[in-house]
Amino acid sequence: MRVLSGIQPSGDLHIGNYFGMMKPMIGYQEQSELYCFIVNYHAMTSVLDGRKLAAGTLEVALDFMALGLDPEKAIFWVQSDVPEVTELTWILNNFTPVGLLLRSHSYKDKIQQGIAPNHGLLSYPVLMAADILLYQGERVPVGKDQQQHLEITRDIAMKFNATFGETFVVPEAEINPNIPLVVGMDGRKMSKSYNNTIEIFCDEKELKDKIARIVTDATPVADPKDPDRCNLFITISLFLSREEKEELAQKYRAGGLRYSDVKKDLFARMWEYFRPARDKRRELEKDLGEIRNTLKAGAEKARTKATPTLDLVREKVGLRY
Ligand code: ADP
Ligand code: TRP
Repeated sequence: MRVLSGIQPSGDLHIGNYFGMMKPMIGYQEQSELYCFIVNYHAMTSVLDGRKLAAGTLEVALDFMALGLDPEKAIFWVQSDVPEVTELTWILNNFTPVGLLLRSHSYKDKIQQGIAPNHGLLSYPVLMAADILLYQGERVPVGKDQQQHLEITRDIAMKFNATFGETFVVPEAEINPNIPLVVGMDGRKMSKSYNNTIEIFCDEKELKDKIARIVTDATPVADPKDPDRCNLFITISLFLSREEKEELAQKYRAGGLRYSDVKKDLFARMWEYFRPARDKRRELEKDLGEIRNTLKAGAEKARTKATPTLDLVREKVGLRY
C-alpha cells in the first residue's frame, strides 16, 4: 500500500501534529511504501518571510528524522524540489468548482482569523490534491481537521477520471479513531493558529509553563471529577497505557485528586517520552548539509514516481501535440 502525507513548515511542531500525523506516518515506514514531504509551497499561505520559510523547512526535517522517520525506508523530500506538482495543480484547477473551495472550513476559519483571502489560500486544497494524486497515494494519515481536504481531493480525482478515463487512484484519509484531534491548553483543537499548543521540542521551562496553563475546572480537591471532560486527563492519556489510563480515571472519580499532581506527572512523562528524540535532534543538527543532501536525494526518488503520472496526464488532456 502506498501511504502519503505532508506537513507544513509554518512554525514549531506540536503534540497535535505528532499524534495526528507524524507518529502514524513513522509507524508505516516498516510495512508500506511511504511518501512523506514538507509542504513549503503550502506554508507560503501563512509565512511570507523567505528566511523564516527556509529555516522552518530544515527544522521540520530535523524534527521528523529525530522522531524516527528513516529516509532509507521512506521517501522524504521538500515539496518545491519536485515543482512538477504545480503543473498538476494548474491542470486540476480546471476540475475544481470554486464553490467547493469556498465551502472549505479551513479557508473560512483563516478568513475569520483575519488572513487575507488571496488566491493561494483559496486554492490551497487543489495543491494538496496535486500532492496526493501526483504520487498516486492510496492512504493519507492526517488529523481530523484535514478530512474535508481529502474529500476535495477525492472529488477532483473522480471528476478527472470521469472525463479522461481511469488516471488517478482515489485516496482515502486515515484518521486515528482514538485520537482524531489532540486538544490544546484551552480545550479547543490544538493548533498554531489558536496559540494553545504544546511543542514537541520545547525546553524544560517552557514545557512546565505550558502544562501549568492547561485549563482545568474549579471542582474542589475532595470532590469526584469527570475524567472525560477534563483537558488535562485527555492530554496525559496520550502518554499512558490503557491500564494506567483506567487507574487515573478511577482516581478522578474517587475524589481527592489534585490537578497539580496530574500536571507534574504529565510533565515527567512527556519529558521522558521525547527524550530520545531530543538527543537525536541535537546530533542531527550538527550537520545540516547532510540533512539537505538527504532531502535532495528524496526529491530525486519522488520525481521518478511523479514523472509517469504527469506524462500520462499531459497526454490525456492534450498538452502533447
Ligand atoms: P496547525 O493546525 O497547528 O496549523 P497543521 O495544519 O500544520 O497544524 O497540521 C499538520 C498535520 O497535523 C495535519 O495532518 C493535521 O491534521 C495534524 N494536526 C494538527 N493539529 C492536530 C490536532 N490538534 N490533533 C490531531 N492532529 C492534528
Ligand atoms: N494541508 C495539510 C495540513 O495543513 C498539509 C498537506 C499538504 C498535506 N499536502 C498534503 C497532507 C498532502 C496530506 C497530503 O496539514
